Amino acid sequence: MKPPGEELPTGFVGRSPRIVQLRSLIERIGPGRMPVLIQGESGTGKEVAARSLFNASPVGSFVPIDCGAVVGPLMESELFGHTRGAFTGAGEAKRGLLELANGGTAFFDEIGDLPGELQVKLLRVLQEKEFRPIGSLQRMKVDVRIIAATHRNLEKEVKAGRFREDLFHRLNVIRLTLPPLRERKEDIPLLIERFLQGNGQGNARRYVLTHEVSEALVSYDWPGNIRELKNCLDRMMAFNSGPLLHFADLPTAVVNHIRAGREPQLAMAATVGGDPAPALPPPIMPLHLVERGAIKRALDHLNWDRTEVAMRLGIGRTTLYRKIKEYQLVPENR
Ligand SMILES: Nc1ncnc2c1ncn2[C@@H]1O[C@H](COP(=O)(O)OP(=O)(O)OP(=O)(O)O)[C@@H](O)[C@H]1O
Ligand SMILES: [Mg+2]
Repeated sequence: MKPPGEELPTGFVGRSPRIVQLRSLIERIGPGRMPVLIQGESGTGKEVAARSLFNASPVGSFVPIDCGAVVGPLMESELFGHTRGAFTGAGEAKRGLLELANGGTAFFDEIGDLPGELQVKLLRVLQEKEFRPIGSLQRMKVDVRIIAATHRNLEKEVKAGRFREDLFHRLNVIRLTLPPLRERKEDIPLLIERFLQGNGQGNARRYVLTHEVSEALVSYDWPGNIRELKNCLDRMMAFNSGPLLHFADLPTAVVNHIRAGREPQLAMAATVGGDPAPALPPPIMPLHLVERGAIKRALDHLNWDRTEVAMRLGIGRTTLYRKIKEYQLVPENR
């Protein structure tokens, strides 16, 4: 049975105090119509948070608007739509994203990248709750809940004159700050479990990690946050027919980090605000995989000194040779 509050059906995984807090905030403010500003480093789950807010009480549509993707006049027509013949190339009338989001939620992703002239226009929509499609004489009423996200520090952007202060205050009614993964390492095992299952497509738990790999993944700092962790596991699964993912399958960045001498800090690092979160127990796996893992670990640890390995494992050298062959073990850096 899942411990209460472990995860929302929306997929906002995590049990660290900050994620638990965020989740209850999302449940509380999700159903409202107030603007929400989501800040967080790249890959921390800003879009997941935005969708969770919407899903807390879905009304109308959730319309993502990528503020960095389109620039200039095209972006304006994307947002506000245009009438037929409004400008050269506007053969047909087109509804804008704001109109599509009417009655629902518009998610302005990377709002810090919105060009100045569109910042003014968005501010007007927020103030007046209406806008005019390009080429139209008529103003159109809109009731849109605005959720904006950015990896930038918007206060700094305002100070630097790159983001309008009035728009910032309009958006900054409720603020969610997503912590980087390195500050909530106790969530890593849960996320790993989720991503390993996700790939199973109903065939859950097809892949398992050696304890050594789990420790390495928790120990690493993940500058690209959850996105990087997910990509790492996806790659490991893609290159391995499974079921066991071992140390040699880890990406170089993670291996280098471990080799740089940082000890895995699985249980210790999982302490936030003085509350020790228990580390997840290693997954239960078939005995032959446990045996393979133990032999592999001993070999790597003892530089493939087979005599020493056999002695330390309490088996004969011949048995060790047979098992190396049977399990197709090879030295790490080959
Ligand atoms: N709490 C979470 N539980 C499960 N998966 C998550 C969670 N947060 C993020 N993810 C996954 O991590 C990846 C990155 O999430 P998302 O796109 O929401 O991050 P982002 O902050 O918008 O990143 P970017 O700045 O790169 O756009 C996605 O694959 C998403 O499904
Ligand atoms: Mg994003």
